Order: sequence, then C-alpha cells, then structure tokens
Amino acid sequence: MTEPDQRGTIFIDPLAYADQQAWHEAAADLRRTAPVLRVEADGYTPFWAVTRYEDVFTVSRYNDRFLNTRNSVLGPDAQVELLGTLGIEPKTLIHMDGEEHRDHRAVANAWFRPRAVSERQAAIDAIADAFVDKFRQLGGRCDFAQDIAVPYTLRVIMSIFGVPEEDEPTMLRLTQGLFGAADPEYLGDLSDPFEMITRTIGEFEDYFNELASERRARPTDDLATVIANANVGGCPMDRHATLWYFTIVATAGHDTTSFALSGGVEALIRHPDQVRLLQKDSSLVVNAADEMIRWTTPVRHFLRYLERPAVLSGTEIPAGDRLLLSYPSANRDEEVFEDPMSFDITRPNATRMISFGGGEHFCLGSTFARRELRTLLPKLLAAVDEITLDGEPEFAQANFVGGVKHLPVAATLR
Ligand code: HEM
Repeated sequence: MTEPDQRGTIFIDPLAYADQQAWHEAAADLRRTAPVLRVEADGYTPFWAVTRYEDVFTVSRYNDRFLNTRNSVLGPDAQVELLGTLGIEPKTLIHMDGEEHRDHRAVANAWFRPRAVSERQAAIDAIADAFVDKFRQLGGRCDFAQDIAVPYTLRVIMSIFGVPEEDEPTMLRLTQGLFGAADPEYLGDLSDPFEMITRTIGEFEDYFNELASERRARPTDDLATVIANANVGGCPMDRHATLWYFTIVATAGHDTTSFALSGGVEALIRHPDQVRLLQKDSSLVVNAADEMIRWTTPVRHFLRYLERPAVLSGTEIPAGDRLLLSYPSANRDEEVFEDPMSFDITRPNATRMISFGGGEHFCLGSTFARRELRTLLPKLLAAVDEITLDGEPEFAQANFVGGVKHLPVAATLR
C-alpha cells in the first residue's frame, strides 16, 4: 500500500498558513505536480485539494454539479458531527444550494448591489476620515491591523447592519471566537478550539435573538430589520437560518476585509515605490485594491461536493467526494498571473483574482469590500510622507479566514 501524500497538510494545519512564503512554495509545487491532490489525514474524511485557477473557476461556476450543501468549511469529522448533534450546525447562504440558496440570498441582495453601496459612499468616507484622524492621533505609529483595519471594516458593515457602536467589541470578540478559534491568541482561558466555537455560537444566538425580537417589535431602516422580518418562499425565514444569516453578515463582513487591508498595507510598505505611485495618482487605487485582495486572499478555502463524477486537470473524482477550493493557490497560478509571487498594483489583470469565489455563491459583499479599501487608502496615503514597518508582522493561525493580524507601522505624517 502506498503512503498517503503528506503535502496536503498545508490545507489543514492552521500553523502552515502563518508562514506564507513556505505555504505558497508548497502550493506552487502542487499546482505543477498534483493539481488535484487527494488528501488523507487522521480525523478527516478524505478530500481533493484543487489548486489551479482554471479548476477552482470551473468548480465555482457549475453550481448544479458541485454542491455546497452538507458542510462547506473544513473541520475534523468529530467536530462537524457534534455540531449537528447539538443542533448548532451552520446554515448560512454558503451551506445552501439551488432554489433554497437563491430565495435566501434574495433577502439581503439589494443591500449589496453596486448602486446601494454607492449610496453609502458619504457614510464610508466619514468612517474612513475618522480612522485616518485616529492614525494621526497615534502619531502614525500603531498596530495598523488592530488599531485601524479591524475597527474600520467592522464599523462600515455594522453601520448598515444596525448593531450599535458600543456592541462592536462584542461582535469582534465573537468573530474571533468563530474564525480564529485555532489561534492560541484568541483561545483565552480555553484549551479546546471546539469549546470556543460552541460557546461563541451560543453567545451569537443570544445576541441575535434579542436583536431580532427588537427589530420585529420596532422595525427600523437597517439590514437587521430586513433579516429579522424576512419571508422566504412565502413563509417567515426559519429561526436557525435567521440566526446564521445574522452571523454570516456580522462575521464575513469585516474579518475578511480587514485582512485584505492589513496584508495589503504590509505589501505596500514593502514596496515604497508603489506607495509613491499611489500617492502621485490616486486613480490607481481601484487596481491596487484588487491586487491587495489577490495578494492576501483572506478566505483560504470552501468545500464543494460532487453530484456526478468529474474530471479536473486529468484527475477522475468519483461522485459524492468533496473538493477543497484553494483560493490562495489559484490566485498565484502562473498560468493566469504573470510573475504571481510579486505584488504589483499595476498588474494588468488584477481584477481576475478569484478571492471572492464565483458562480451563484460569488461573495455578496465584494462591492463593499472593494469600496472600503478604495476609500481608506488614498486618505491614508495623503496623510503620510513615508510609512515603514516598526516590527515584524504576525500572521493568524487559521485555515479558513486569515492574514496579517498584527502590523506594527511607523509613519511620518504630513
Ligand atoms: C476582501 C473581503 C472578502 C473576501 C475575500 C470574501 C470572500 C468570499 C468568498 C470566497 C465567498 C464564497 C464564494 C463562493 O463560494 O464561490 C464569499 C461569500 C460570501 N461573502 Fe464574502 N468576502 C469578503 C467580504 C465580504 C463582505 C464585506 C461581506 C458583507 C457582509 C461578505 C459577505 C459574504 C456572504 C453573505 C457570502 C455568501 C454568499 C453566498 O453563498 O451566496 N463578504 N465571500
């Protein structure tokens, strides 16, 4: 019997993602030699890791052949089963297919259309200005990730959601409890990430049940009111789906975008020539934001299930098996991006990055995410002469959503 290929552990081990250079070298090797790799690991049902851009694109696009239902995020089998037994398994848009997915997506869709996001521009400007002021007050010296990127992106999404500003620290703590449970920094007094996850789901449930009751009794003009009072297929959205709708908007809305911002600023700092380019011509920010989102790829994977057998990059995969779509690997595919390991805000095809996925599940919040980056960056760079690292950046230990979690910077202010 042949030994299982150990190279697939990079998709499971949260620590592997903390060393980005090593991770990307390993993924590049897989794209060349085993682009659809069967991964077998203790405690995990085997899966196929899909690392080439074309394959990730194809699987994302054909939603009737590659399903989301069951479980969309990698976790040990025992944990996934236990969440089911406890009745707290996730049921977000990501966990639905077909009509059920379309009906649920329609609930919030209008809030995320380009036009609706454009209408929020003045509010986003005001929030960005407040954070550039904060950066000034800190003398240009701070942990850019925690002091600026995280609270800025959180405030933007909470401003449409309707969660009051005083509850933002709670939202932040709970997001970290759900997405960052594998990182020792966020585990606190707990020793078991699973305990952190179940505790966090319980707290989210308490918080959002109260918010939902409040918005049903006294509707306002925010997104929380829309979710709390939603009808799906002619009936009120069920309790479980409502809870997870709140949860996905509250968590996916800022954790991802803040990692794109902190990791993107880190990359800029390492390329002072590109900072100067942006300072000279702020219209470059549109492309720069996409390159930052390609470079950081904050969402590391989602899973899909095969409805029928399929062939990807010459590998036959039987029906019922599951695929892990590796967005960070696809975004460094040399077949699509020239010199993919370089950060280049003038990259001609940066917009092809696949960080937001594709097909029917294409990120609902992509317009917001892009606009948040495009709004803050020119304001920030207009405030500084030079910006440098003031210590080593630190990466989150996470195999689902992650990036630069601490970014010490020092800037000379204008
Ligand atoms: C740079 C920031 C972001 C990245 C990299 C990102 C990435 C992703 C990815 C990869 C998916 C799954 C796509 C697929 O399965 O094909 C997704 C879905 C989703 N994202 Fe984002 N996201 C970001 C920002 C946001 C924001 C600001 C929100 C706002 C609430 C948001 C809300 C959602 C929702 C609700 C879904 C589920 C969509 C569905 O299944 O229909 N995301 N995102």
